Amino acid sequence: MAEQLPTGQPAIRVTTMPADANPYGDIFGGWLMSQMDMAAGLVASRFSHGRAVTIAVEGMKFHAPVAVGDEVSVYADLVKVGRTSMTIDVAAWRRARHAEESCLVTQAQFVFVAIDEARKPRAVDSPPATA
Ligand SMILES: CC(C)(COP(=O)(O)OP(=O)(O)OC[C@H]1O[C@@H](n2cnc3c(N)ncnc32)[C@H](O)[C@@H]1OP(=O)(O)O)[C@@H](O)C(=O)NCCC(=O)NCCS
Repeated sequence: MAEQLPTGQPAIRVTTMPADANPYGDIFGGWLMSQMDMAAGLVASRFSHGRAVTIAVEGMKFHAPVAVGDEVSVYADLVKVGRTSMTIDVAAWRRARHAEESCLVTQAQFVFVAIDEARKPRAVDSPPATA
């Protein structure tokens, strides 16, 4: 994913809160990863028309810290589709609450697998699951 603010819509946009921060006031890396996982999950479930789960996270990188009160925008792009798997490039950008410029803070590639009601991998082009 290019290190230029994407022009499309983010999958998720959220304001960071004190409960998301460590004792030094920086936002937990795990909180950011969970936002990224949710953004990728939205893309995977929408594309596969059903339940999809994370099987791998590759190349996770934290480029810059996030502070309490920042706006975090998470962009998720489907870049590869296999038989049952979907690979999604995810990047989070922060914007200080009272400023205009945005800064890339995290990047990773998430791999999701579409699953059926028995939690077995299903082809991504299979009929939509009921749940
Ligand atoms: C997802 C799950 C059902 C897949 O079952 P599995 O028997 O491991 O899957 P398979 O070996 O058949 O692989 C399924 C697909 O994932 C891909 N895959 C498997 N391991 C992978 C890895 N480490 N990295 C990238 N892709 C991987 C395979 O290439 C295959 O893709 P394709 O069908 O597009 O070719 C199973 O691993 C699982 O339940 N994992 C736990 C998921 C979970 O709880 N996630 C966290 C909460 S959402």
